Amino acid sequence: MKIIVCKSKEEVAKEAAKFVIDLVKEKNDCILGLATGSTPLGLYNELINDYNENGTSYKNVTTFNLDEYVGIDPSHEQSYHTYMQSNLFDKIDIKQDNVNLPNAVGDLEANAKEYETRIKEAGGIDLQILGIGSNGHIAFNEPGEDFESVTRVIELMESTRNDNSIFFESLDEVPTHAISMGIKSIMGASKILLLATGEGKADAINKMINGEVDESLPASVLQRHNDTILILDEDAARKLDCK
Ligand code: GLP
Repeated sequence: MKIIVCKSKEEVAKEAAKFVIDLVKEKNDCILGLATGSTPLGLYNELINDYNENGTSYKNVTTFNLDEYVGIDPSHEQSYHTYMQSNLFDKIDIKQDNVNLPNAVGDLEANAKEYETRIKEAGGIDLQILGIGSNGHIAFNEPGEDFESVTRVIELMESTRNDNSIFFESLDEVPTHAISMGIKSIMGASKILLLATGEGKADAINKMINGEVDESLPASVLQRHNDTILILDEDAARKLDCK
């Protein structure tokens, strides 16, 4: 794993944006794996600014998002469909037909299977953006999930629901389940960029880099990926020296 430590979360966003923009320029029909949460918002802003200022085009780019909540409508203001539309897709020239998120309405098992197949048929992900949960989860793969897991329905841990309750009016409104790409689906990406900012991630970041590769900390699996870059701010990197 390569580690880049930046002075601020704004620098993390700029650094990450360079990788995405370079890839889109070099391979205009690339496949991007995208994440939600507060961490990638700065990156998406940088992509929008670059699109407006330099015209980098996403016309031929395809995207696959990591996950979607079960039990809220895609039009709900906290769905990941809405998040992606308002924070990125509506503001660049990507084609709606080329954006993919798990469909968390209807037959969930069938939808999850179909999503995994769709990623494979598209040729796999060139560059996957990841955040990390404070408990070390990636996408919604919670501690204890199998490293061989593919896209499926997942029950969210109480700690994750608590972390994500800031986006909802109350904890009760936070969905209990999601459809998420699995660890194996994520590990299939050619290149992975994991972004982490803030002290709340420092513990998980230290364990994923210096700890054992173990299912109790899902992100630790990235030690086995041969092209993963971590882009951290100083707060998230704070515990890195205390092995
Ligand atoms: C959610 C998402 C993850 C994300 C994590 C961290 O659980 N499913 O993909 O990485 O939150 O979110 P944040 O960036 O808001 O800390």
